[in-house]
Amino acid sequence: MSKGTFYITTPIYYPSGNMHIGHTYTTVAADTMTRFKKMTGYDTYFLTGTDEHGQKIERKAEAAGVTPQQFVDKIVAETKDLWKLMNIEYDDFIRTTDDRHVKAVQKIFKKFYDQGDIYKSAYEGQYCAECEAFWTPTQLKDGNLCPDCGRPTETAQEESYFFRMSKYQDWLIDYIESHPDFIQPPSRANEMLNNFLRPGLQDLCVSRTSFKWGVPVDFDDKHVVYVWIDALSNYITALGYASDDTTLYDKYWPADIHLVGKEIVRFHTIYWPIMLHALGLPLPKQVFGHGWLLFGNDKMSKSKGNVVYPGPIVERYGVDALRYYLMREMPFGADGNYTNEALLTRTNSDLANDLGNLVSRTVAMIEKYFDGAVPAPGQEEESDQALRARYEALPAIVEKQMNDLQFSVALSEIWKLIGDCNRYIDINQPWVLCKSEEGLPRLKTVMYYLAECVRAIAVYVYPTMPSTPARIFAQLGVTDPSLMTWESVQTFGGLKPGTLVKKGEALFPRIDIKKELEALAGGDQPEKTQAKAESKKSPKPEKAQKKDEKKQEVPDGMITIDDFFKTKLVTARVVACERVEGSDKLLKETLDVGGGKTKTVLSGIAKWYAPEDMVGRTVVLVENLVPRKMRGTMSEGMLLCASDEAGNLKLVTVDGGVFAPGCEIG
Ligand code: MSP
Repeated sequence: MSKGTFYITTPIYYPSGNMHIGHTYTTVAADTMTRFKKMTGYDTYFLTGTDEHGQKIERKAEAAGVTPQQFVDKIVAETKDLWKLMNIEYDDFIRTTDDRHVKAVQKIFKKFYDQGDIYKSAYEGQYCAECEAFWTPTQLKDGNLCPDCGRPTETAQEESYFFRMSKYQDWLIDYIESHPDFIQPPSRANEMLNNFLRPGLQDLCVSRTSFKWGVPVDFDDKHVVYVWIDALSNYITALGYASDDTTLYDKYWPADIHLVGKEIVRFHTIYWPIMLHALGLPLPKQVFGHGWLLFGNDKMSKSKGNVVYPGPIVERYGVDALRYYLMREMPFGADGNYTNEALLTRTNSDLANDLGNLVSRTVAMIEKYFDGAVPAPGQEEESDQALRARYEALPAIVEKQMNDLQFSVALSEIWKLIGDCNRYIDINQPWVLCKSEEGLPRLKTVMYYLAECVRAIAVYVYPTMPSTPARIFAQLGVTDPSLMTWESVQTFGGLKPGTLVKKGEALFPRIDIKKELEALAGGDQPEKTQAKAESKKSPKPEKAQKKDEKKQEVPDGMITIDDFFKTKLVTARVVACERVEGSDKLLKETLDVGGGKTKTVLSGIAKWYAPEDMVGRTVVLVENLVPRKMRGTMSEGMLLCASDEAGNLKLVTVDGGVFAPGCEIG
């Protein structure tokens, strides 16, 4: 049974160039929200699309030697491909050039005209031909310059239709004041009231005669409808408003959330409510103005040449890593800087280490200790109870944060459960429990609790990372769809004992950050553009300084930091160990090196360590040694040891359960 309808929209994007990571950010947020609402029982409708009219597109098409329609068709096709790549599941994609939209906008415009909301007059003001915008005297820079591009403006006049915004100003102030949830975050509501509404609204120019690429005003063919009436109407024309079939409109309007970037909050919370009110229609329940993804503290934009595109990132690290980063890194509503380094660091720490290792350790231990069958839990003890309490508190917390569009907080709450599970392993030390008969009942409980938590985590990550749950369920052996639902994580214990787990590939292989940063900087995208932007700012970019450092003399016996970092040191956990036949010096260790991978290493420490002393230790492995055959076995690295004058060896360890395998050292 549906809990009700949920209609969410993104802005319709200008197809003046390809969509970048900033547009992707809004669209991923809308998709994440839709998936969450659907999962929690709502009948959802998710609309996105493109805002295709205007002089800018007309000119771009001309420069490209194609018609405006051909120009936008190409970009729209590429946009749809990008949304597919990003796993965006919209219900409809509206284009302002769609016949259904054009016809409905003409009807809306005529209605406004007939009821006296729109009147014909002449517009005179300072006009920037490059940006195709009129600017008010207070907006101009240094008297006469365009505040956007800095070019001189000229006085221009044009016959136009105007919308009597001023007529509705008092009604809107009252509406915003009495509906505190309408504009979110609340600071944006104050901005609208104080900066625009209370000082007084100007009537809005809603038609143009100086270009043709727009919706024709059907009763005055010199004019095309100018931008905001055309664009904003999409949210209802897509549902069939003013058409022969209003089924979707009747079902889904008013929208639950319009997601928009902060610079267009004004149009959505002033012009749009007034248009709707004039049409006699209800207002959207909420307009949420999110922040910008910045690049080097600048808004990413095509004209500034500092754009990052998602394609190459998805290709290298997968779509879910990028979606996770976008939703996790910055609080929704605030601005945040995009950097490749932050993306890679998050992927390693949250996805490879925290989530990936938890899944692979849990599955590996169930395989090892119980032949792959999830055991039935026994008596609940303190640490089990604490873990179950976290599990049972989570649905309400996540639902509240998601409903407030606090994606980042919701994810950090989910990651608290992941962190608790990893600590639970360290506290309960299954590798010790497995050694004795008395430990067996505890081992069963511990393994069941972990597996059940992993199942819930797979459910929780779905809205943000839609392709990850299937991979976790496959390893966990969960095939029953009823164990993959929101319902199924409300109470602890859905997973059936006896379920057969099966170790698979690492969910998120660890990334060599240094190498990847270099690869990204060397490739076409995205850091090449960043390097360009940086070199413009500073006469001596960081990279050039690094080169100078390299030229410094290195005294004999010393190495540079670069030399040191050639050695890759990582933590590794000894999962098995035996003596090497025919040798009294060598032990053969099987090491868990994180990300679901193991390595075999031979070390000359048999004199100081018995094989059974080795299992469970977290040691330091030199990971990038060229493998070497010893006594018929390939040794794939070396364990760090300290040695005294007499040649006694002591392993360097990071025991105590603090570090998962695969953590970098250095
Ligand atoms: N066509 C209008 C919207 C009309 S809605 C009725 C428009 N298009 S746009 O392509 O310029 O921007 C669309 C959305 O993308 C805006 O919400 C904008 O904030 C968002 N973003 C564009 N660059 C962005 C970032 N760098 N970061 C976050 N969002 C960004 O405005």
